[in-house]
Amino acid sequence: MMMKVCILFLSMMFLLASAGKAQPKIWDETEQEKQERMAWWTHDRFGMFIHWGLYALPARHEWVMRYEKIPVEDYEKYFDLFEPDLYNPREWAKMAKAAGMKYAVITTKHHEGFCLFKTDYTDYQALNAPLCRKDLIREWVEAFRAEGLKVGFYYSLLDWHHPDFEIDRIHPQAPKDPKDYKKLNKGKDMDRYREYVKNQVTELLTNYGKIDLMWLDYSYPKGEYGKGRQDWDSENLMKLVRKLQPGIIVNDRADLLDVPGGWDFSTPEQYKVAKWPERDGKKIPWETCQTFSGSWGYYRDEATWKDNRQLLGLLIESVSKGGNLLLNVGPTARGTFDQRAQERLAGLGKWMAVNSPSIYGCTEAPAGFDAPDNTLLTYNPETNRLYVHLLDYPLGRLLLKGYAGKVKYAQFLHDRSELRFGKANASVTHKDELDEKDILLVLPDVRPDVEIPVIELILN
Ligand code: GLC
Repeated sequence: MMMKVCILFLSMMFLLASAGKAQPKIWDETEQEKQERMAWWTHDRFGMFIHWGLYALPARHEWVMRYEKIPVEDYEKYFDLFEPDLYNPREWAKMAKAAGMKYAVITTKHHEGFCLFKTDYTDYQALNAPLCRKDLIREWVEAFRAEGLKVGFYYSLLDWHHPDFEIDRIHPQAPKDPKDYKKLNKGKDMDRYREYVKNQVTELLTNYGKIDLMWLDYSYPKGEYGKGRQDWDSENLMKLVRKLQPGIIVNDRADLLDVPGGWDFSTPEQYKVAKWPERDGKKIPWETCQTFSGSWGYYRDEATWKDNRQLLGLLIESVSKGGNLLLNVGPTARGTFDQRAQERLAGLGKWMAVNSPSIYGCTEAPAGFDAPDNTLLTYNPETNRLYVHLLDYPLGRLLLKGYAGKVKYAQFLHDRSELRFGKANASVTHKDELDEKDILLVLPDVRPDVEIPVIELILN
């Protein structure tokens, strides 16, 4: 009996002690402070992702080392031959800006391990590549800042070149037989690798001035022979990032979703979200990252390129669900954007030149505004304007169901030309559907020469 009481007492004490223990916290700030820190990013909505590295030479996907199981010694030939003689980040920055992008994120190191920046911790870097001999990141940062774009660094947590990085199930040298992991990883020291990562992240966040965004990629803790927060020492890594650049915004791939301050925004990759993503019942900041075609790195023979309309749809739809779009370019081995990328950027820019007010500062439409068929809505809470994007140009009339009394004035956005409210009897098509709660907008028969025309509604 006495024994039982003792055990009960001890377990109660234990429970009390663990309940009182503060949850690990990486970053202490209020919701309001977080919103202010992220305000520029939430406003800007549209950024450029850049995947550039040695994989631009084989030009067969940035995972070519893994897909073709290329041993480090063989892969290093790309290091010897990397010759980006046409590299001019000023041009990149100008193209990004002209496309309407407001920030950019570049791979400082991808999974292959090659560093585009100056580092004291490996020779496998651009400055040492015999035909390059430049700190590519320094020039990039200067060029993008000069065009007024915010700058972000992608840094791969994986490293298929580093001798201490333990071989796991997605490593190029992953063995067929799980029994072989032990043998293959003998002598590798992940402590040393974690140190390496922290040293490099420190270099990146101290040597280049203010860095607006950090994109750590990625974790795969589920199943066997994966990697996650213990492998990266994510909590301390994130503390380091926040300490070095207190204003920085970080993505969510360090496996810290349950740790306050462990991430700022979610990163749905290569798919459209069905609705504004939530966590614990709350809408969260999010950014979808997308490629023009099926690869992040330059892929010469890949042909599944999205067209302008699809790309615009992606941008508008992201904003209509409260999110951002980070659209990727994979520059060539010479340091240029290939023609297909340039054409698409120009197409986006043409539309953004007149329609960007429906993107910048915009978000999901407020409750009570339903999107008419074949349209997407965005809303600017500052100016109280609602934007109707016409994906499919209607015939002469657009029915805004339930909008009556809520709209002061309507106009096209591209030329700010007035759109008048029609009457029910002016339309045979809508005669029956229209009631006093609705508005019927009269549109010109001829579709304006805009890829996706936008109607701007000034709300009451
Ligand atoms: C994935 C891939 C990678 C790409 C990234 C972009 O994690 O590993 O190649 O850089 O997604 O989101």
